[in-house]
Amino acid sequence: MASVKKSKTIFYCQNCGHESPKWLGQCPMCHEWNTMVEETVSKGAVSSASTAAGRKGLRQAPKPLSQIEEDPEDKITSGSREMDRVLGGGIVKGSMVLVGGDPGIGKSTLLLQICRNVTNEHHSVLYVSGEESAKQIKMRANRLGSFTDDLKLLSETNLDDISEIISEQKPEMVVVDSIQTMFNENVSAAPGSVSQVRETTGVLMRIAKSMGITVFIIGHVTKEGAVAGPRVLEHMVDTVLYFEGDTHGAYRVLRGVKNRFGSTDEIGVFEMNEDGLAEVTNPSEFMLSGRPENASGSVVTCCMEGTRPLLVEIQALVTDTAFGIPRRQANGTDYNRVNLLMAVLEKRVGMHLSQSDAYVNIAGGLKVSEPAVDLGIVMAVASSFRNRPISPDIVAFGEVGLSGEVRAVSQISQRVNEAHRLGFKTVIIPETSMKSVRENPGVKLIGVRSVNDAMEVVRG
Ligand code: TYD
Ligand code: MG
Repeated sequence: MASVKKSKTIFYCQNCGHESPKWLGQCPMCHEWNTMVEETVSKGAVSSASTAAGRKGLRQAPKPLSQIEEDPEDKITSGSREMDRVLGGGIVKGSMVLVGGDPGIGKSTLLLQICRNVTNEHHSVLYVSGEESAKQIKMRANRLGSFTDDLKLLSETNLDDISEIISEQKPEMVVVDSIQTMFNENVSAAPGSVSQVRETTGVLMRIAKSMGITVFIIGHVTKEGAVAGPRVLEHMVDTVLYFEGDTHGAYRVLRGVKNRFGSTDEIGVFEMNEDGLAEVTNPSEFMLSGRPENASGSVVTCCMEGTRPLLVEIQALVTDTAFGIPRRQANGTDYNRVNLLMAVLEKRVGMHLSQSDAYVNIAGGLKVSEPAVDLGIVMAVASSFRNRPISPDIVAFGEVGLSGEVRAVSQISQRVNEAHRLGFKTVIIPETSMKSVRENPGVKLIGVRSVNDAMEVVRG
């Protein structure tokens, strides 16, 4: 059958990769408008490895778990503690990792630094760039420090040539920067289109798995334009990491979205400097730097990012409404949650917020979604409304329910210890969590049962 080449066209959604035989204005999967693009797929050229002939000799006998050997050598360190944590302990040999992020956020810089660390440990690495010439990469590398000859650079976009070179050189690790620039001659669609991106990833995956080579793929996330979102590949790779942050701010967060080798709620925090990305080993301190003193509407809270407690400052600004409808805005936290918490304050505390504009902001540009920050938001809003500063050495956390009750949150002791470590004297926690926390002589714990109890603290 493989000899019969027949090409047909399929419409692909450039956002989520949904296939359709005919054009549609709106993608039925992701509901994006105007994303369906016609692409030619030539049947037969694709997936020769999945035909019976291609698989001959590769068949394996099923084995019980007890007979499968574990090999601790299968993980190598990336040389960056933050990166290792997000990857689940290190780079797994033969795995495929997608690093996505906005253009200019620092993906190439991050991976070039990882390449440097890995080659310093005498592992061979091939860095394939379809975006920059070898000279440009060298200019970037000069800023990052010295590299050994174990790192080879290749400026190429043709996948056939790339796979040939990989088979010849057999590096331990390959970086492909970026997947949207690569093309496979067997697919007639343009580089960056869904079928190209998908097919290219498929070929790289076969190389990775059959030769035990670790492959890092860089992908740009752009909502609009002709570039296929890396979302199409998420299910094909082992690990998906997103590199995010404000391009104007210095800090960057590497977040695991999918990980076959570890947990996905770990984050790595980096800071972009003159000479590349530096690890931020103490993110709480980083997030709290520049905190205003004795300003109303500012409260420090503690959220968990994976296994790590992170202190963040919540800022609220409540002012009288100038127009009929009050304006509310939430930066770095859920808008609807802020509205809900303000309704709780209105009803349970009797605070007349319905005639006030309110702006809530997580300082530092971090995004937090954990309910444990509820109490912090409530106290910040109340503090700004009453114009009473909250003592700067207080940390408050707890989930707030609709009846105004403050509910227990997990990992109390870790959060309290983090607050203690950064020199906070008082920690406000849910009353119900008081028994599950270990005594810490350095901090005073205050248990609150409801938002009304917490208001006592705001009053001072
Ligand atoms: P880059 O890694 O090229 O981003 P991406 O591959 O995600 O598109 O880096 C983007 C920005 O980082 C660029 O605007 C310059 C900045 N940068 C520094 O500030 N310091 C450095 O040492 C390097 C290499 C880059
Ligand atoms: Mg780049």
